[in-house]
Amino acid sequence: MKILPLAAELNSILAKEAPPVLEMLSDLGRRFYFPKGIISQSAEAKAKAHKFNATMGIATEGGAPMHLASLQKYFHLDPADVFLYAPTGGKPALRDAWRRKQLGENPRMKGNPSSLPVVTAALTHGLSVVSELFVNPGDKILVADKLWGNYRLTYEVRQGGQIETFEFFSGGLFNRAGFRSKLLEIASRERKLILILNFPNNPTGFTPSPEDAEAIRLAVKEAAEKGLRQVVVCDDAYFGLFYDESCLTESIFGYLSGVHPNVLAIKLDGATKEEFAWGFRVGFLTYGAAGNGNLEAVYAALEKKTLGVIRAGVSSCPQPSQSVVLKALESPTFQAERAEKKEILRARAARVHEVLKQKEFAEAWTPYPFNSGYFMCVKLHGVDAEKLRLHLLDRHQTGVIATDGTDVRVAFSCLELDQIEPVFATIYQGWKDLRGSI
Ligand SMILES: Cc1ncc(COP(=O)(O)O)c(C=O)c1O
Repeated sequence: MKILPLAAELNSILAKEAPPVLEMLSDLGRRFYFPKGIISQSAEAKAKAHKFNATMGIATEGGAPMHLASLQKYFHLDPADVFLYAPTGGKPALRDAWRRKQLGENPRMKGNPSSLPVVTAALTHGLSVVSELFVNPGDKILVADKLWGNYRLTYEVRQGGQIETFEFFSGGLFNRAGFRSKLLEIASRERKLILILNFPNNPTGFTPSPEDAEAIRLAVKEAAEKGLRQVVVCDDAYFGLFYDESCLTESIFGYLSGVHPNVLAIKLDGATKEEFAWGFRVGFLTYGAAGNGNLEAVYAALEKKTLGVIRAGVSSCPQPSQSVVLKALESPTFQAERAEKKEILRARAARVHEVLKQKEFAEAWTPYPFNSGYFMCVKLHGVDAEKLRLHLLDRHQTGVIATDGTDVRVAFSCLELDQIEPVFATIYQGWKDLRGSI
């Protein structure tokens, strides 16, 4: 298919400054560019057309965006922060503020310059933008065998990639050896891989240790040295919700960004889970490349392609929610509020650990390790997870998620402390009702 001149220009920048990154792009990714159309003409007019500005596809009145009182009355915000289109890459002040937050919370990110985050309509959209830019039909996607099911829709169903898995746990710990050997085995047969790392993990609520993170870094580097081009997607949806000091308390992105020219790390994070703002749809996509080329030029080229995908898909992300997330980031009480909610979730996780000590539960299930996030997961003994889920709904009015044939996920994030023991007692009762049914 035809590559238009603006896309060819971006591709030639990548060819010069980071050739492996060009190779990582999908065919679609190679075709993307950010048009010098209405958006950039309007931006130029905003800077220079001080007399009359007749560029934008909005309506104005008295120097403000035209708006209805029935909508504005729900916002304590300037109408411009509610009704105007946000820029395709997101509100500049929000991008800067999120960058400061990322650097403050991830000491390792200071070691290697990464791009300014681009705003996405939360993490799902970020995952989808990445899949469009980097996944060709048949490309291999490596992810832990405990995974968020939506990866299948985005990467396999929609984009035609092929998901392969590595065993997440070995003996109750992160499976370092299994991860490394799977990666090297892929390196022996493939030239390109999309690796998705999700810590804290959905569904298990597990985050590996700093030593595990170092082992992951070394394995990725080793595979890169063998020639495997790796797009490493760090899905940090549950970032910050770490309850056990022995787990990694920063994003693995900082370990992988800059590790080798054959590795392009991509950080996806956002307000959804960590700021408890699920419906806002505010997320961020950040690149971390490596090599001797001009990385700023690489980031600028990747950003234009990313903006092209956003422009083609949703045009831009919602303005009101970006405005309030920015205000929250600037609020002096923001960190204290987050810490307070994290303590509530930490107490629930601790209560789950306590409840799980009940001796009789051992016959029914084995819990997977968990130390972070919203969830925990158990592996059932001798009972089908879907059957148990339906049974718990029908007979015990209790909802849990069956993530596969043996595993049940419990979202302790939406259980009050005093509900935790009864929920596990109910799951155990359900298990006893069905014991021996498979
Ligand atoms: C691991 C993981 N990544 C991404 C998402 C999607 O987040 P968002 O609502 O920001 O699209 C979820 C949501 O459940 C998730 O569990």
